[in-house]
Amino acid sequence: MKYAKIQGTGSCAPDNVLSNEDLEKIIDTSDEWITTRTGIKQRRIVDKGKYTSDLAMEACIRALDDANMPASELDGIILGTISPDFIFPSTACILQSQLGCGNIMAFDLLAGCSGFQYALHVGNGMICSGQSKNLLIVGAEVLSRIMDYEDRSTCILFGDGAGAVVLTQSDEPGVMSSILNSDGDNWEMLYMPGGGSRIPATEESVKNRDHYLKMNGRDVFKVAVKSLETSSVAAVEKANLKPDDIDLFVPHQANLRIIDAVRKRLDMPEEKVYINLDKYGNTSSASVPIALDEAVKAGRAKEGDIILTAAFGAGFTWGASIFKL
Ligand code: COA
Repeated sequence: MKYAKIQGTGSCAPDNVLSNEDLEKIIDTSDEWITTRTGIKQRRIVDKGKYTSDLAMEACIRALDDANMPASELDGIILGTISPDFIFPSTACILQSQLGCGNIMAFDLLAGCSGFQYALHVGNGMICSGQSKNLLIVGAEVLSRIMDYEDRSTCILFGDGAGAVVLTQSDEPGVMSSILNSDGDNWEMLYMPGGGSRIPATEESVKNRDHYLKMNGRDVFKVAVKSLETSSVAAVEKANLKPDDIDLFVPHQANLRIIDAVRKRLDMPEEKVYINLDKYGNTSSASVPIALDEAVKAGRAKEGDIILTAAFGAGFTWGASIFKL
């Protein structure tokens, strides 16, 4: 039996900080409102001329370095994103070229903020089945380019960043369980209307602000809590573990109140949950791998530790995984 193991982690966030106080100057909001409703204090925003592939590239180089693996040993790149450089070609192909690996499989995967969670699941399946040996699993976003900075209910939440892991074949686990789900019944609760075949870019679509993210935050909140809880419980059970066995929970960093509600339902102490949304906001697909990389580098997640990750996003999509570092 072969397993997939995380051999290295890396992340990258732009230097430019957009604080709650900065937002106070452009929309009708306050640091107090944002902090109490979300826990977010600041987010990172790319400079003009920088793209999702630039952040992803840096995160991948750092993950490969951490794994002590040259890019030439990779046999695939799977990148979760909702803000690719282009709709096509895939941002993963841009990485394939820039990293200088061979003509390996490379594709983007679209699963809302669960993009990394989905990519990890797919990569795990490919490695366990023997189709791949060394994969880069990436989550990268430049959400500032699809944010409506006139919509105070969304623009305060999201930021830019990228995270990556090197997933490699191993005789020992590795990934112990992975759960994915979706429910498209309420896709309009969180989506971007423009840019696809329904509403292509026209002068009118631009005037209607169709190329920005739209969300019904209050309803999304309820679904997020429920789905993060159910998938986390299912992943723990599938791995034949108890919640107590988890050393660190690395949840999708959307909202502190969502994370807190899930933590309480899982009966988990605060110190077992990794939180960095105060610094980055919600970076969608990048959120879990950035948090995981930070937790590893800060010594909060060590070799041999059992980690639970869980994510939720547009679609709706959600999922969770358990792995031994
Ligand atoms: N600053 C100040 N006031 C704001 C505001 C802002 N940035 N955004 C909204 N408000 C106002 C609303 O207009 C509303 O005013 P009203 O009562 O006069 O109509 C009031 O605050 C409450 O709005 P509501 O949407 O009910 O707030 P909330 O407690 O649900 O918090 C979110 C809003 C967006 C923070 C919260 O719903 C949320 O986090 N949802 C989940 C979103 C998410 O994580 N999405 C990504 C999933 S991957």
